[in-house]
Amino acid sequence: MDCTTELRLEHGMMMKIFSALLRLCSGSGPAEAESHGRLEKVMDFLRTYVDQCHHAKEEEIFFPAIREAGLIKLDGLVRELMSEHHAGRGMVQEMEKALGQLRESEASAKVFSEVASRYVTLFRQHIRKENGILFPAANEKLSAEIQQRVLHGFRKIDRDKMGEDRRTAFHHLAEGLEKAL
Ligand SMILES: [Fe+2]
Ligand SMILES: [Fe+2]
Repeated sequence: MDCTTELRLEHGMMMKIFSALLRLCSGSGPAEAESHGRLEKVMDFLRTYVDQCHHAKEEEIFFPAIREAGLIKLDGLVRELMSEHHAGRGMVQEMEKALGQLRESEASAKVFSEVASRYVTLFRQHIRKENGILFPAANEKLSAEIQQRVLHGFRKIDRDKMGEDRRTAFHHLAEGLEKAL
């Protein structure tokens, strides 16, 4: 497997969770008990699977490898993607805060839904740019040796930040919510 195949697979899981997040915000809304429990799990996914693992793989390993391979023309795009990761982390914090206040404040449900909607719009576009522009260019330029090093770095991040059992559980969560909602 090359490194972009792994990142694309993770994008697929993220897309499932994004759709689930939007569906949980519509209908009975995030204040309803069952939705609330599911949203806690979705937030764990966004914090751990997306920010601590997937985005860390891109920021610490994959983007530097692209620079190392001499893809200077992609520098502007990589900077844009990095700033979107940063914005996404801020939105996750806003959603967590709103979710924590749901029981005391009705306005929090509205805040949560509004931030969730902005987050999903941003990251659907973000993933389209990575899948459609960045990954094809990287696949052309990254040598087999760099690919191996990148994959090795990905394994270390998975091990340190998540572990195989949690990774499997997050994939089950994404697939389960897709079926249930
Ligand atoms: Fe990214
Ligand atoms: Fe990504």
